[in-house]
This record gives sequence, C-alpha cells and structure tokens, in this order.
Amino acid sequence: MIDATTTLNSITIGSIPIPTPLTLAPMDGMTNYAFRRLVRQHSGTDCGLVCTELLSSQILTGKDKRARFKFDWQPDEFPFAVQIFGNDPTMMADAAQILEAAGAAIIDINMGCWVPKVARKGGGAGLLRDVCTATSVVQAVVDAVSVPVTVKVRAGYRRGEPNAIAFAQAAEDAGVQMVAVHWRYADQGFRPDPVDWSIIRQVKEVVRSIPVLGNGDVHTAADARRMLDETGCDGVMIGRAAAGHPWLFHHIAHELRTGEALPAPSLATRAKAALDHAQVMVGTSDYEETTSVLQLRGRLHQYFDELIDTDPQLADMRHQLVRVNTLAEIEDLLLPIMEITQ
Ligand SMILES: Cc1cc2nc3c(=O)[nH]c(=O)nc-3n(C[C@H](O)[C@H](O)[C@H](O)COP(=O)(O)O)c2cc1C
Repeated sequence: MIDATTTLNSITIGSIPIPTPLTLAPMDGMTNYAFRRLVRQHSGTDCGLVCTELLSSQILTGKDKRARFKFDWQPDEFPFAVQIFGNDPTMMADAAQILEAAGAAIIDINMGCWVPKVARKGGGAGLLRDVCTATSVVQAVVDAVSVPVTVKVRAGYRRGEPNAIAFAQAAEDAGVQMVAVHWRYADQGFRPDPVDWSIIRQVKEVVRSIPVLGNGDVHTAADARRMLDETGCDGVMIGRAAAGHPWLFHHIAHELRTGEALPAPSLATRAKAALDHAQVMVGTSDYEETTSVLQLRGRLHQYFDELIDTDPQLADMRHQLVRVNTLAEIEDLLLPIMEITQ
C-alpha cells in the first residue's frame, strides 16, 4: 500500500488517446500477441499502450518473408505500436510503410537494443552513437507514414555521453510523437547497477510538446509513483515486471488511484493465465507447436515464481514446466492446479 493517491493523466500520441499512462515495454520473445492479449484481458485500459516485439527493417523490406511470421497484431488491441529497428533511412521508411499498410496504429523505432548483433551494426542503441544519423532515420520514417511515430531510446551509447537528451529534442523537431527513455546506457546492457532515473528528467526538461515515458526497473506502484514524481515524466513503461503478471498495470493503476493494494492473484488465476498464454500462443503463432513450446518453457514459470519459495509442490511443477515439449504436457500440468484451487 502507498500512503497517498496519484492522478494518472491520459496522454495522446499524435491524435491517439492513451487512456492510462502505464504502457507495456516491447520485449523480444515475450510481447507477442498471446501475451499482449492477456495484458489487455487482465489490465484492460489500465495498460494504455502495448507494443510488439522488434522487427528487422532489413527482413521486412527484403525477399526473406520470415518477418511476416510476426505480423501478429489484431485490431482489438488498439492502441498498439509496432516496433522496427535498422539504421538505413530508406529501408526504415519502406519498412514503416509496409507496417502501416498492414494496420500498424503507431510505428515505434528501436534505439534501445544493445545486443551486439543489432547495436554494433548501427541499429537499435547503436544509432545513439551519432545524433545526426539517428535523426535522419526518424525523419525518413516520419515523412513516410501518416500514423504517429515514436522512439524508444536508452540514455546514450556510452556511459557519460547522454545523447538521448540532444536526440530527443531533434526527434521532436522531426515530428516524433512520443519518446520513451530507458535510463541505462547501451554499454550497461542489463547490469543491475544502482538505478538512476535522472536522464529521464533531463529528457523531459528539453522536450516541449510530446509525452516522455520513463522506463527501467519499475516493479510496484511505489516505484511508478517515484518515477513520476522524481522525473516529471508523463507516463511509465514497464517491461520485465509484467512478465508472468499481465494484471500488473491494473494493480499499479488501482493502487496509485486509491492508495489501496489489490490482493495478489490466486493460484487458479495464475494457472489459468499461464494456460491461456500457452493455448493462444500455440493457436495463433505461425511457428510449429514445438517452437512455440520451447519459447513458453522460459515464460510460464514466471506466473508462479513468487509463490515457489512457500510451496514445494509448485517448485516441482516449475521444474517440469521448463522441460515441456507439447501443449498437451502444459495442459496436464496446469489444469489440475486450476481444478484444485477453484
Ligand atoms: C527479454 C527482453 C527483451 C527485450 N526486447 C526489447 C525489444 O524488442 N525492443 C525494445 O525496445 N526493448 C526491448 N527490451 C528492453 C525493454 O523494453 C525495457 O526497456 C527494459 O527491460 C527495461 O525496462 P524494465 O526494467 O521495466 O524491464 C527487452 C528487454 C528484455 C528483458
């Protein structure tokens, strides 16, 4: 429980209203349609915006049609963003047009991915090494589409070079409609360094007319309120804490608005959510069942992780969940839990 209420003001991205300024961060291997749908089911409009996994502009515009496998959005997810990465302005503009034609409501440009195969080639956070190149990429995308364009940045590429500040100003001038700022530099990867949200405040101070979202290490309503208070940001983007917790946005919004914490979801609710995740993912993915189940192995236990210390039977189930090979095996593990506890 927190000791005072916080007003959550809606924001707009271009002309698109975002009812609650709490949004789901894009996460490769996680924010596919199955998970985004669960977030909408359990958090409703308390998750103001969802985002796809990152898509390569090179694959989208090339002959290799594998990227089509990830055209997994549905109109009922609105408002949603589709994220692309790359460093070639023409290719990024073409990719954005392909996505707009395929129904993307918002195009988000990835300038946060630090993994070497993306950043060393100049995409993702690699763009932040050079504000001019980064700006030419966003300008090309903004000019190519009529849907709003947003960017997600890290603080900069190297620690001590906070290029996000100059870039955010340039992006706003180029016509970008929202900037999300993850406080780490690319060379920090995901290191658990002491949290420092000051870069979010600095970006908010220079951006005049578009929303700035803060991102990084928000797990609870208290964290969200602290980020809003300390940085003045217009909204909070949440990634890892939402994995296995599609209700998180509703719980955080409720606690901020009322000062009251909602009870933690029951074991049955968790098992049902994990099962929905698996069934929808296998049912809607263009991948083979075995490929989807391999990805689910690393995800389903997250619905139960915080209960495992107190329940040895769940520890056993976790052990089995990370070894499943088929949807039927997942159902065999989760259905009995739903029945016992309902
Ligand atoms: C597994 C994983 C995959 C991610 N994939 C993406 C991605 O595709 N695009 C992106 O912009 N950021 C990606 N990120 C970064 C997150 O969007 C977010 O910036 C980061 O996790 C910090 O926020 P958090 O502390 O709330 O998790 C990913 C993070 C994780 C953990």
